[in-house]
Amino acid sequence: MNAGLLGVGHYVPERVLTNHDLEKMVDTSDEWIRTRTGIEERRIADDDMNTSDMAYLASKKALENANIKAEDLDLILVATVTPDYPFPSVGCLLQEKLGATNAAAMDLSAACAGFMYGMITAGQFINNDTYKNILVVGVEKLSKITDWEDRNTAVLFGDGAGAAVIGPVTEGRGILSFELGSDGAGAKHLYQEPNGFMAMNGREVFKFAVRQMGQSAINVIEKAGLTKEDVDFLIPHQANIRIMEASRQRLELPVEKMATTVKKYGNTSSSTIPIALSEAMEEGRVKDDDVVILVGFGGGLTWGAVALKLGR
Ligand code: ACO
Repeated sequence: MNAGLLGVGHYVPERVLTNHDLEKMVDTSDEWIRTRTGIEERRIADDDMNTSDMAYLASKKALENANIKAEDLDLILVATVTPDYPFPSVGCLLQEKLGATNAAAMDLSAACAGFMYGMITAGQFINNDTYKNILVVGVEKLSKITDWEDRNTAVLFGDGAGAAVIGPVTEGRGILSFELGSDGAGAKHLYQEPNGFMAMNGREVFKFAVRQMGQSAINVIEKAGLTKEDVDFLIPHQANIRIMEASRQRLELPVEKMATTVKKYGNTSSSTIPIALSEAMEEGRVKDDDVVILVGFGGGLTWGAVALKLGR
């Protein structure tokens, strides 16, 4: 069977933290943040809202959208670097919240590329007919590992969750091609410090991301036997508008053919791609039979891309 997208959903916390709020917290300015990153505001989860709670709210919507009952899930894959606990996994906590009694569950760690790793892994179980319905979630509460006194990182991140149900779709639709990669030599550029906060060499990550995102997008287009002209929409990982623009220009797509949720949510790591996909579908910006390129990069370093033809 060919693996594809059966449904998608997302959740972002209500609390908004604007660039102007950040001006009062660190030595920065709305102008600097907007021009260097494209971010205007981000969402921050309340103390009592944990990663698994956000995962639950996004997953419920994805299941509704896919018209699938929680008991019909075979597997739950949660991509996160901010789990409620080191163990048990968010996957297991989510299984219980959803009542997905027949599903196996686990977390996977590939930072901002995590959703791509999850989606592609899910695709293999579908393609070899092992499972029928797999819930893939990208979810982060980055606010709990952000040093709110460090302007280099505090302005970039936010909280949120996106979920997708992956299952068998009609021949010709679904995941047309994919690419996954990692480069552990770059682990030193983006990591969690012993004190729990994120640390980042922004310039190195930036250079890597500009190079890798565009190349991975081109690679999956070619692997699918397509050309740039066949691409209807681009959903890049939402870390920085300048990185995203470089990918868009490489694909020669007009501005309106790229998701840009970074403006209102900042970088929510593994959840940016499913959130952007869910919003694009909700807003009718993409439709059945559109070819969408999803491409992510993150700490590890990791990257992943998919050429996806929408529709069941
Ligand atoms: N406000 C004001 N000034 C700032 C801020 C801020 N928030 N942050 C840094 N600066 C200063 C720097 O100190 C530097 O000052 P200096 O020249 O006196 O030293 C100056 O601004 C320019 O710094 P650069 O690093 O050159 O700025 P750049 O244009 O590269 O933008 C940024 C920095 C936004 C971090 C960029 O490098 C970037 O987006 N990198 C990629 C980051 C990323 O994607 N991370 C997430 C990866 S995904 C994951 O797995 C979590």
